[in-house]
Amino acid sequence: MTDLSAVARLEVWRRRLDQWLTYVPYGALVCSTLLVLISSNVPHRPYPLIAVLVVTTLGWLLWWIALHPLWVDDRGRMGVFFAGVVVLIYLLVWCSPLFGFFAWTGYLFTAYALKGRLHRAIGGTLVAFATGLAQAGGIPVSSWSYFAVVLFFNLAIANAMTFLTTMTHEQSAKRAEMIEQLAEANAKLAAALRENEGLHAQLLTQAREAGVHDERQRMAGEIHDVLAQGLTGIVTQLEAADAAATDPAAWRRHLDTAKGLARDSLTEARRSVQALRPQTLEASALPEAIGEVAAGWSGRNGVRAELITTGTPRPLLPEIETTLLRTAQEALANVARHAEAGRVALTLSYMEDVVTLDVRDDGTGFDPAAPREISAAGGFGLAAMRERLLRIAGTLEVESEPGAGTAVSACVPAITLEAAA
Ligand SMILES: Nc1ncnc2c1ncn2[C@@H]1O[C@H](COP(=O)(O)OP(=O)(O)OP(=O)(O)O)[C@@H](O)[C@H]1O
Ligand SMILES: [Mg+2]
Repeated sequence: MTDLSAVARLEVWRRRLDQWLTYVPYGALVCSTLLVLISSNVPHRPYPLIAVLVVTTLGWLLWWIALHPLWVDDRGRMGVFFAGVVVLIYLLVWCSPLFGFFAWTGYLFTAYALKGRLHRAIGGTLVAFATGLAQAGGIPVSSWSYFAVVLFFNLAIANAMTFLTTMTHEQSAKRAEMIEQLAEANAKLAAALRENEGLHAQLLTQAREAGVHDERQRMAGEIHDVLAQGLTGIVTQLEAADAAATDPAAWRRHLDTAKGLARDSLTEARRSVQALRPQTLEASALPEAIGEVAAGWSGRNGVRAELITTGTPRPLLPEIETTLLRTAQEALANVARHAEAGRVALTLSYMEDVVTLDVRDDGTGFDPAAPREISAAGGFGLAAMRERLLRIAGTLEVESEPGAGTAVSACVPAITLEAAA
């Protein structure tokens, strides 16, 4: 950054100097003319001729430089301009040697109009001859030996000037190129930054959308597993109470069960709002919790449900245990709702890398491949179960056939609390 501003400042100064130098020839021409007018002892050609030449020179400079500044890049035009300037300089020096002051500005035109070392060397030599002639007393030359010495000095000056001008121009071109490259790099950097910002915003939006989707899925699962299941159980118990109106003991039992279900569902609903794990898992380990769920379900539905645990039970990540418990609850709820089963067997197996839960019933069975629609009546349970398992890198398999019972198998990674810590 510092480099760029330093180079740019130098370039501004160079341009200002160039601008200032453009006024010098006019000043030198006016001064030379005034000197001719006041120095009556220096020989000169007739004033009208001088006036014509001075006016022509002024016009020539104004036309080529002030009025057409863009012609500076046209090599052909600049060649014509320079040739004209050289002719006018020689004519003016021929009119009076005092125009040597103006002749000197020919070096400036060499730098302005000519490109390349050779052209500038030729231009500088022509100007050096003119200034040499003026310094040697004008045309015709009175002393050739004196002229030779003066010419030698002028040629030395011309060469030095040519060398310096070429160097300055080359450096200036390099600086301009450098500024351009830096500006280009800056623009590229700015574009890359803008692009990055866009990508960042896009990533944020995607992450937000993914978060919203995940949370919506989680809430839908919770509503299904906690509220809908609880309400289904309550409705079933109330219907049973209705049917047992003549048997006060049975009626009371169904009502109490409905009350208990309502209370449990309320507790679970509150816990899921706070994203806490189920109450049963808070109090006992997973095998006991599933055993309690099975026993409660069995008591309510009058169907035998047994849990067998194999392997060595060990505490798993809360999210994994909750998922297995919900799987057992939904599988049992399905048996109660759809299977008309006489017996349910639950198997919880702790293996080295995975833990599986099988829920088998001997009920009516169904065709798992048959297309199923999610509607107000339900149809969300198995899909929600699969989603939940997927979130913890688990899998679900449903094996069933009409008349041959149903087996629901969940398999989850056995990530223990210790391993996760
Ligand atoms: N154990 C089972 N025995 C017989 N049929 C079953 C069993 N489990 C599931 N089904 C069948 O699979 C369908 C889909 O079950 P799913 O749990 O997805 O939905 P649902 O129980 O009908 O409604 P929801 O669970 O959303 O309240 C059920 O409608 C039922 O026909
Ligand atoms: Mg269901």
